[in-house]
Amino acid sequence: MNTSLSLENVADAVRKAFRAWFSVSGKEENSLGFLQIAKRKLSSLPSDSQATNLRLTANSILEEALTELENQEGTESDVEPDKFLSPAKLMRETYLAKKDALQIALAYGYSRDHIFRLRGEAINKIAEILLEKENQTRAEIIGELEKALPPKTYRKLFGVEQAKQQVLAQLLPASSTQIITITGIGGIGKTALAQEVCQAILPEFAFERVVWLRVDRKTHLGKATSPEVSFDEWVLRLAEKLLPEQDHLYQRVNRIRAHLNQRPHLIVFDDLETEAEIRTAIIEIQQLDVRSKFLITSRAHTDASNVFAYPMRELSHGETLAFIRYLVEATQPSLPFTQKDAEAIYEIIGGNPLAIRMVVDLARDLPLKVILEDIPQGKIKETEKIYTHIYKKTWEELQDEARAVLMLMPMTARAGTTYHHLAEISQLPVSQLAQAIQELRRRSLLEVTHEGDGEIRYSIHRLTENFIRKEILQQPHDAS
Ligand SMILES: Nc1ncnc2c1ncn2[C@@H]1O[C@H](COP(=O)(O)OP(=O)(O)OP(=O)(O)O)[C@@H](O)[C@H]1O
Ligand SMILES: [Mg+2]
Repeated sequence: MNTSLSLENVADAVRKAFRAWFSVSGKEENSLGFLQIAKRKLSSLPSDSQATNLRLTANSILEEALTELENQEGTESDVEPDKFLSPAKLMRETYLAKKDALQIALAYGYSRDHIFRLRGEAINKIAEILLEKENQTRAEIIGELEKALPPKTYRKLFGVEQAKQQVLAQLLPASSTQIITITGIGGIGKTALAQEVCQAILPEFAFERVVWLRVDRKTHLGKATSPEVSFDEWVLRLAEKLLPEQDHLYQRVNRIRAHLNQRPHLIVFDDLETEAEIRTAIIEIQQLDVRSKFLITSRAHTDASNVFAYPMRELSHGETLAFIRYLVEATQPSLPFTQKDAEAIYEIIGGNPLAIRMVVDLARDLPLKVILEDIPQGKIKETEKIYTHIYKKTWEELQDEARAVLMLMPMTARAGTTYHHLAEISQLPVSQLAQAIQELRRRSLLEVTHEGDGEIRYSIHRLTENFIRKEILQQPHDAS
């Protein structure tokens, strides 16, 4: 049951739950089942009798709320003779002692109407107490779930609202879609969209957990792995995250199916590499036959039935211009940037967000004409050439220290590295390293993210890594 969180709904649920105080029907609507405070309590009880658990949970929530109401009453009026009928006492008399309104009215010397009014007020007060607790619990749960998501590399996304709503709709419990693919060229924003969607789904509480998995290609460099082996690796990593207490990998993998079936999870496979990998993943997931949902991002695209495929397109003319305006205002307000400049970028680069960001960064030091000259026209098939061109121009502008740091980055973990590690491997004095980091960041070459624990991490985009490996370090393997 998906009931929205309004005072009216909670009050209604409170009334039903009090009425069912002595009934073990197993009905969620009679036992505050839509509240996260109830779900939390339920999950800590042994799972043998769900109906009894629901009742015990609801009654203990109501009992706690009554106690809190009594505490509030205690401070409001301290003249409390036996004859005084407080709202909490009225609730106990009505629902726990099962006295009817007339009985109570006579015992306390009130009219029946007064009793009904007082009961309505008591229910509203209890609903207010529960609503506050529920909001607090929801914020805590969202905070916990958020920790599973990678830190964001953007402040604001442009042109993704429609895509976000479409993908989000597939993730809601009302949709039977189990697998969603987000595909498109490098730097188009697949990972960013997946992050945005995951973040937006959290307040729906549709999933017990979100698990974000990303393959570190460096471990594969030089090794050709089959799609099956590669999928097994994803499952192993999933099992490691979800069932860390199981000693044996074999047991973990065996139990993963049951786990994903009992409790709906959202699993993100960020960056499946090849079409064969996606195809294998889809087949294997469908065979798993679980209630959980899977979100896959990949540069490769495949047509498969029973999969919701979202191919990402470039930003439109209007979206690109809005993005450029935002970038200039947010990062370089002093730049004499005109509408004509923005038009020129769109004309030649097209609507690829990462490429746009790098060009705007470069425009700080180079005339736009120089940046854009010799770039092949912005057709999708030429994207790689466009990137190589922008990266080369950016590289030429870098100071030696920034170059040195950038060349080290492909050797660090994809998830990012710390300042201390960078200081250690670069051997640069503090002031030079700090300058190099700032320069790289300013040129969108270094992603600087703040982790939940307050740690700052430095990482590079896959396209940047590719450029460094291929063009600068001249390594034979393509990291992308
Ligand atoms: N719609 C957007 N508006 C603004 N910035 C964006 C948008 N989409 C992506 N970005 C930014 O562009 C960069 C590239 O995005 P992202 O990493 O999501 O691309 P990707 O498609 O996953 O690339 P890859 O194929 O290499 O994994 C990121 O820094 C991201 O923050
Ligand atoms: Mg990506």
